[in-house]
Amino acid sequence: MDSSAAHGVFGQVSMGYVVVESERLGDWRRFLKQGLGLHLESESPSELAFRIDAHCRRFVVKRGPAEDVVAVGWQVHREGTLAEILSRLQARGIAVEDGDEALAATRGVRALKRLKGPKGLTLELFTDALTSDAPLRMLSRGFVTGDGGMGHIALTTRLPTKVCRFWQEIFDARLSDRISQPMSGTMLDVSFLRLNERHHSVAVAATRGLRVDPIRTQIQHVNMQVADRADLSAAYARCRDLGYEIAHEIGQHPNDLELSFYVTTPSGFEIELGWDALCVDEAAWTPAWYDAISLWGHRPQKVSPLRQLLLNLGNAGRGLRHAFRPEYSPIP
Ligand SMILES: [Fe+2]
Repeated sequence: MDSSAAHGVFGQVSMGYVVVESERLGDWRRFLKQGLGLHLESESPSELAFRIDAHCRRFVVKRGPAEDVVAVGWQVHREGTLAEILSRLQARGIAVEDGDEALAATRGVRALKRLKGPKGLTLELFTDALTSDAPLRMLSRGFVTGDGGMGHIALTTRLPTKVCRFWQEIFDARLSDRISQPMSGTMLDVSFLRLNERHHSVAVAATRGLRVDPIRTQIQHVNMQVADRADLSAAYARCRDLGYEIAHEIGQHPNDLELSFYVTTPSGFEIELGWDALCVDEAAWTPAWYDAISLWGHRPQKVSPLRQLLLNLGNAGRGLRHAFRPEYSPIP
């Protein structure tokens, strides 16, 4: 084994948890528990914590004004790999701080490191999650987690090359494929990066040519994946019945072949709930380039032209004033 393989990070990192900040805890409680069917593990006036598997905390909503994802936790499956990641960060002058015990407890992990990632989003690294063997009380029977992590995030950026380089240089991310699609008079290019067997853990979207980022939130959507098709359709029906805005109805992506729908969260960004995304076979995989984001479906629920434009751009309506804002990158 050569030294690069010995210190390889690919396959050793997966999405561990998401932290949202919102003043709408009551809405979030109903949305995640009754809509998407997650297990409510604990609640207080300042915080909600949800499980989808043995991890004590996968989805945390804490009281605060951001109405956005404010941190994403990444589980590093070996101590040696964490040391390698930290050394890569240090070599690039990217500051890392230790989270204290109280913070670790709110994340449901034994210890964590924190850094400012692309777009200024806080990324947190941990090796050991606190787990529970208490039965899950969920409306969905099960979520796909394991070595591939709890799902993926998708973000829009004005600096797609730098964002992709960050994930590639620090986490050995591999390009699974790209999709380019005309959208609202521009071309949107999306790069799908995998950190492990999951087809992508990070999707990076950018407008071609003039770089604009009209999305208000750091994250355009968070994806989670149910294990059974029946749970996907049941969650879709529940979200509709409860009156949540279906940003995109059920459809299928051409690259990971995941069947999914997108629902707008109480904070304005979206959650994609999916089923049956493929896992990448490293020996046989060849990156492709697709010319449409969906094979079929994924239509906005409401189809007035103005609404369609806004839905196509996620929560763009509140973000237009930010379209040209400067964007932080941890690497030059
Ligand atoms: Fe997605």
